[in-house]
Amino acid sequence: MASGPTQEPIDPVRFISNRSSGVMGRHLAKAVRDKGHRLTWIECPKTVRTALELQKRLKKELPKNDVLIMAAAVADFRPAHAGASKAKKESFGTLRLKRNPDILKSLKSRKKKGQVFIGFGVESSDLEARGLKKLREKGLELIVMQKATAKVTPFGEKPVDVCILGRGGQRRTFRAVSKRRLAGRVVREAERLARA
Ligand code: CTP
Repeated sequence: MASGPTQEPIDPVRFISNRSSGVMGRHLAKAVRDKGHRLTWIECPKTVRTALELQKRLKKELPKNDVLIMAAAVADFRPAHAGASKAKKESFGTLRLKRNPDILKSLKSRKKKGQVFIGFGVESSDLEARGLKKLREKGLELIVMQKATAKVTPFGEKPVDVCILGRGGQRRTFRAVSKRRLAGRVVREAERLARA
């Protein structure tokens, strides 16, 4: 399982990241352990910091695990150059960015028969259509879609509205569900999919 936000350094002091709190990951880890499963937990930015480090670690861990729950909030861009020393504000110009890899897509070709991939997606609109596209393109069995707009965000310890989409066409919506309960539901789905 991977969770939390990646951090992409600008220099030794500054970084680019996102608003992920890591709360969902902590509930997922507890739910997995409570069920007695062995857990490999890559908690960003504690275990690894950047998207590239996360990708490398996941490639290493993937063969040893039956299920990948990808709840990490991967920064889609990183600074093209990370300075070795703190940049002075006077010398700051334009920050050039580079695309990070899509980690799930890069793991798709390494997926073994019977392995289960579960993703967590965020969109501002068209959750179902965009979720189904992510499900297909990233080679997932299940995706939990959450909405983020200027008014409503899914970050932190609070109930969320989610739509869970399955490869087999299943679609379930949950309103104001706690992250603890959602984690329990995701782990039960993972168990079901791994058995199938
Ligand atoms: N993800 C990934 N690598 C990335 C970005 C996202 O593996 N570079 C994973 C996330 O961990 C999540 C899923 O893809 O499980 C969906 O993430 P989301 O941020 O919704 O999608 P993106 O692919 O980043 O697409 P966009 O930002 O264009 O909506």
